[in-house]
Amino acid sequence: MEKDIQEVMLTEAQIQARIEELGKILTEEYRDKNPVVLGVLKGVVIFYADMIRKINVPCQMDFMWVSSYEGTDSTGSVVVKRDITTDIKDRHVLILEDIFDTGNSLSFIYDHLMKKEPASLKICTLLDKPSRRKPGVTLQADYVGFTIPNAFVVGYGLDYNEYYRNLPYVGILKPEAYT
Ligand code: IMP
Ligand code: MG
Repeated sequence: MEKDIQEVMLTEAQIQARIEELGKILTEEYRDKNPVVLGVLKGVVIFYADMIRKINVPCQMDFMWVSSYEGTDSTGSVVVKRDITTDIKDRHVLILEDIFDTGNSLSFIYDHLMKKEPASLKICTLLDKPSRRKPGVTLQADYVGFTIPNAFVVGYGLDYNEYYRNLPYVGILKPEAYT
């Protein structure tokens, strides 16, 4: 696994320090709001597990699983593989996502959830790659862990063909590892 990494972009320590900072902000934001914290599977799992333990307010957890991404290229179409089951009408909902890339999946998820009439809907993404945003996507993340340049990254939940999710850091994959 390690041999396929060209460069570590974000170390474990950097990620944990940023999560600590975001945790303080989100704890203030969601105090007395009893939020539903919605993770977008599968890439968010590691971030979700760390982030949720730094949001020190009573909250409920739920997950959505959508798919729009094949290999290293986004196809544009989004399919719901697992929908949210919590009733979010009049609830404060915080979406946790691994990466805001073209914006395809988050735009879809945002519209999908808004139809359910939440009291508020905000987005917290670990990584933001604004240079990859599809024209026409106006949605923005409310909370961003790190804004990163246009490179394909893996680790800390992010995959290439379902591998590398268990790397403890975020790294750039060597081009020769794309097979
Ligand atoms: P979107 O293009 O913003 O819709 O992102 C769709 C999904 O593609 C994300 O949730 C990630 O799972 C995946 N993705 C986007 N960029 C990367 C990357 O650099 N590495 C690994 N997965 C990525
Ligand atoms: Mg994902």
